[in-house]
Amino acid sequence: MTQEKTEQDQTRFPVPQTLAQSARCNADDYQRLYRASIDDPDGFWREQGQRLQWETPYTQVKNTCFDGDVSIKWFEDGTLNASVNCIDRHLPEKANDIALIWEGDNPAYHHAITYGQLHDHVCRFANVLKNMGVKKGDRVTIYMPMIPETAYAMLACARIGAVHSVVFAGFSAEALANRIKDCDSQWAITADEGVRAGKSIPLKNNLDEAARSCPGLKAVLAVRHTGATVSWVDGRDYWYHEAALKVDSRCEPVVMNAEDPLFILYTSGSTGKPKGVLHTTGGYLLWASITHDYVFDYQPGEIYWCAADVGWVTGHSYIIYGPLANGATSLMFEGVPTWPDVDRFWQIINKHKVNIFYTAPTALRALMREGDAPVERHDLSSLRILGSVGEPINPEAWLWYHRVVGKGRCPIVDTWWQTETGGMMITPLPGATDLKPGSATRPFFGVKPALVDAEGQIIEGAGAGNLVITDSWPGQARTLYGDHERFIQTYFSAYPGTYFTGDGCKRDADGYYWITGRVDDVINVSGHRMGTAEVESALVAHHLVAEAAVVGFPHDVKGQGIYCYVTLNAGLEPTEDLARELRQWVRKDIGPIATPDHIHFTPSLPKTRSGKIMRRILRKIAENDFSNLGDTSTLADPSVVDSLIEGRQIR
Ligand code: PRX
Repeated sequence: MTQEKTEQDQTRFPVPQTLAQSARCNADDYQRLYRASIDDPDGFWREQGQRLQWETPYTQVKNTCFDGDVSIKWFEDGTLNASVNCIDRHLPEKANDIALIWEGDNPAYHHAITYGQLHDHVCRFANVLKNMGVKKGDRVTIYMPMIPETAYAMLACARIGAVHSVVFAGFSAEALANRIKDCDSQWAITADEGVRAGKSIPLKNNLDEAARSCPGLKAVLAVRHTGATVSWVDGRDYWYHEAALKVDSRCEPVVMNAEDPLFILYTSGSTGKPKGVLHTTGGYLLWASITHDYVFDYQPGEIYWCAADVGWVTGHSYIIYGPLANGATSLMFEGVPTWPDVDRFWQIINKHKVNIFYTAPTALRALMREGDAPVERHDLSSLRILGSVGEPINPEAWLWYHRVVGKGRCPIVDTWWQTETGGMMITPLPGATDLKPGSATRPFFGVKPALVDAEGQIIEGAGAGNLVITDSWPGQARTLYGDHERFIQTYFSAYPGTYFTGDGCKRDADGYYWITGRVDDVINVSGHRMGTAEVESALVAHHLVAEAAVVGFPHDVKGQGIYCYVTLNAGLEPTEDLARELRQWVRKDIGPIATPDHIHFTPSLPKTRSGKIMRRILRKIAENDFSNLGDTSTLADPSVVDSLIEGRQIR
């Protein structure tokens, strides 16, 4: 792939000739299909909906409204089952093809699961859940490591119409309990332990701790993974391997309406309480499937690896639902990029001859620091397409990924999307889109992005503003579980009639989109989305803390780090020990991903006369940028700023 300079002096990587010819979608196809999807969404999606296998064909396609009560329905009179679409319909031709390749944390462990085997495992799992009493519509919390049983558990829920709520295994017992309670989940699935970088994570014990504050939890199903001894509550807890022996390997799928819920996934917003984003069956599955197919240009027989965790939406859509709906081979990795050594990713790509690789900029930045040698030790010639997701990718990391990992041959698809969007929204297509490092490029079919200014006016042509989407797409979240009002408030009230993404964005003269990051109180730490309010409420729950304000700051590897301003109760002196204790406290309350990078003790916070904390100033100070603090005259006590700057400089 050669490099050209455009008129705007941006580096541009044209589509390689071979791909323009061989890919399923070239530039002309993209133009034609995109136009069709916008001019006639009903007709376009009526046709595309045929990618799925329906039990009852739909006659209705799009029935959506972003005003008033906000109602989003797609294919509303169609019925289908997601597990049938991900498994059964492939069986006539692909029973012996590999559905999942599992690579353990320990490099000696790996195995492959065919579509035929996946069918048996999922049916067994579904029958076990049924025997425990799980029924259609029940919420099932899944707190699991990256093992095949996690995929079986999700698909088993889908098979019997239960709604899964996967909670990332790095979350604490407390965070888990909140999520179990929020969706009133009576059932939970976990493993004895998880393993990452050779270290055990006591999942069952964490779940037991969470269960103490969840009286509604009726039963727990535990998968034996490491064989560790775990605490046990007789009558409530069941071992999966024992229960599985007593059930059949066939299970009739439950026929679901397209708009029946498929899963809930909690994500962070600008308040302390995580939001239960709800996705439904038909539209979500179609979106995961079509985006996986076009964006990765997936070709039959290829080995595809998304290195995310199933605890996040990327894992849901691009380890499980998208690839399996497409009959692909999806690799699932239990471990971390740097263990046993910093070349683990590259070793896996070579070992399994991975063709398509999808990861996050934070991982790339960490690996880039190790130099080129760990990559060059391995034969990566199987790679064809590279992907990036979760946060803006800085051009330096993009160019390294392209040159060193992709040897200049492989297009990089920088995919912008969110938990709420269900799947990719702004993204290159490998055979259609010239690339510019750092730009997510252009919208996928059916996506109508727009930029708005502070007054809510739409910005035409090149410019910068807040990113909104002006019409619905099938993969869109339908509501927040149990709180439709909050759904409307969060996404549809800032700019009425449009979906507000929470992201800032630029559009260049070529119509390319450049995501600049969140414009709300959400930060992105190592690709993990976190509400600063969540960290604040953890801090103020400590008995010595009077007040706290948390902001993000630029971090070389993590993208953003967590910077906490803390005011102690009167009379207390800050100490290093206390800073350490607070870091541990937050870690225990939320999970290791929320561990603060900086604790900045301050006698007071910058507040307006009405008592509102001026976060803008706190952000600037955390960024070490003291020159642009803006107007501080509205502060109740402007001298606070000087003492904060002093505090920052000694760090
Ligand atoms: O700020 C954007 C950033 O991640 C946010 C969504 O986070 P989450 O719901 O956890 O989903 C992550 C996986 C899709 C967005 O609001 N983000 C995601 N992808 C990109 C990105 N920012 C820039 N470029 C991307 N490719």
